[in-house]
Amino acid sequence: MNTNVLVLSTGTRNKVIQYFKRALTDENGSRIGKVIATDMSELAPAVYEADKFYKVPRMTEDGYIDVILDICKKENVTGVCSLIDPELSLLAEYSQEFENIGVTVIGSSYEICESCLDKWKMFCWLERHQYPCAKTYIDKEIFYRDLDMGKIQFPVFVKPVKGSASLSISKVYTRELLDALLDSSDSELMIQEYLQGQEIGVDCYIDMISKEVVSLFCKKKIVMRAGETDKAVSFKDEQLFQLVTKFAMEFGFCGQIDIDIFEADGTYYISEVNPRFGGGYPHAYECGANHMNLIVNNLNGIANKPSIGQYAEGIYMMKYNEVMIKNGE
Ligand SMILES: Nc1ncnc2c1ncn2[C@@H]1O[C@H](COP(=O)(O)OP(=O)(O)O)[C@@H](O)[C@H]1O
Ligand SMILES: [Mg+2]
Repeated sequence: MNTNVLVLSTGTRNKVIQYFKRALTDENGSRIGKVIATDMSELAPAVYEADKFYKVPRMTEDGYIDVILDICKKENVTGVCSLIDPELSLLAEYSQEFENIGVTVIGSSYEICESCLDKWKMFCWLERHQYPCAKTYIDKEIFYRDLDMGKIQFPVFVKPVKGSASLSISKVYTRELLDALLDSSDSELMIQEYLQGQEIGVDCYIDMISKEVVSLFCKKKIVMRAGETDKAVSFKDEQLFQLVTKFAMEFGFCGQIDIDIFEADGTYYISEVNPRFGGGYPHAYECGANHMNLIVNNLNGIANKPSIGQYAEGIYMMKYNEVMIKNGE
């Protein structure tokens, strides 16, 4: 039987679609499944990489999930995933409906997706489970109390509790500026210890059958631009492998996740998790961390064996622009 993968909100993630197509091609070059893409815009370039494209309503519109379920039935879809954060919880919420028609939601549970969207919740979990993380405050009074007691110092890092794409983040040096920021913001902000160190990204796959971490890829971020990693280099460290493996399994993730970590003075601080393919995933794939194959195995009922650190190190990734040209006739 064919394995058909539906990728939602594909946007500009062309390579993710190409990699899925490769994973659904056998040794003789014959296709063993289709990749179907959706987006709310027909000007999302990645949809033209797919075997089939459906233009769908905005995910917040009534009836959206029924449109997706209908596509699954019509195309005999085996597994579905999304590439954008707000849609992860929605898919998880309806995972039973998908399962009823034989479709696996490639992703974590509803509670876990929601915890990842809420950076305060994530901090509370990390602290409770004694993982190194940046000291974080949501209550200004408690922050000032700790500041007076010397438990935290300026500069601090201020960011929205439910932020994304590095929007509305600031490094704050003074009480006056902090007060002004907190008073003028229309979204809930949190105050965090400023972490000075090497930023790291980890692409991790948690087997959907065994629930074990089966693949990890670590990179040092060299240049960041507009909230994305622009240049990075792969590396390996057994201590980091162990930390991430323990964390991912204890938190209960499932499928693909992307973790932000800081390294300072030999300690790895866990910062945030996006439980999906991150924008920098092509770096992992090109170095040998082929998570599309792991997904296809899982969709076929095969559990993957752990294979940690089987990738090339010292490999650099540099992003650049590409264009797609289409005739609109
Ligand atoms: N505590 C911190 N200290 C210093 N820099 C930080 C801190 N937290 C986040 N950053 C920087 O801000 C960026 C965005 O923050 P992050 O928590 O990853 O939110 P998101 O990616 O959802 O916007 C990070 O990639 C990192 O460069
Ligand atoms: Mg981030």
